[in-house]
Amino acid sequence: MLENDIKEVLVSEEELKVAIKRLGQQLTEEYKDKEVVVVGILRGAALFMADIIREMDCYLEIDFMDVSSYGEDFVSSGEVKIVKDLDTRVEGRDFLIVEDIIDTGRTLNYLVELLHYRKAKSVKVVTLLDKPERRIIADLVPDFVGIQVPNEFVVGYGLDYKQKYRNLPYIGVLKPEVYTEPEE
Ligand code: PRP
Ligand code: MN
Ligand code: MG
Repeated sequence: MLENDIKEVLVSEEELKVAIKRLGQQLTEEYKDKEVVVVGILRGAALFMADIIREMDCYLEIDFMDVSSYGEDFVSSGEVKIVKDLDTRVEGRDFLIVEDIIDTGRTLNYLVELLHYRKAKSVKVVTLLDKPERRIIADLVPDFVGIQVPNEFVVGYGLDYKQKYRNLPYIGVLKPEVYTEPEE
């Protein structure tokens, strides 16, 4: 059913597993002597969050934030609003932000600055997907990247189009006819 809306599989389930295992090893090494707070950004990062923490063999805590950009949902407007804040004390602690994808970089730029403002000891970013072609915040370079993707409309494994397709087990490219609706 969902599959009928997908033009091609960009990252298969197997490729996701391999990428997440590799990231997990890097993060285990990075945080083996620290007690990191891992922050998943709702809702897109939910699936990746669940999988990446199980590949990290170190003492960690988890928390979540939900932010939304103002304006239309297709192109983010740059202004970010906190929908759900952390429940964790920030000052003096090490943070790892978990994202599903970095597009313009505005969401993460805001979050990284917020955690620094709240006096985090360190703030690093892991993203499953990176779409560098779309970057507006040039100096937003993620510390850990799973897979670079081209500038196409990707969905699945947490990523949505109009809140749907998050439950696809792989990353796929949406057929253009799905998002170019006929004029009324
Ligand atoms: C998407 C994605 C990232 C952000 C990336 O979230 O999950 O959080 O956009 O875009 P940016 O780099 O241009 O800021 P979205 O706001 O669609 O919310 P969602 O996670 O609930 O889908
Ligand atoms: Mn998101
Ligand atoms: Mg979204």
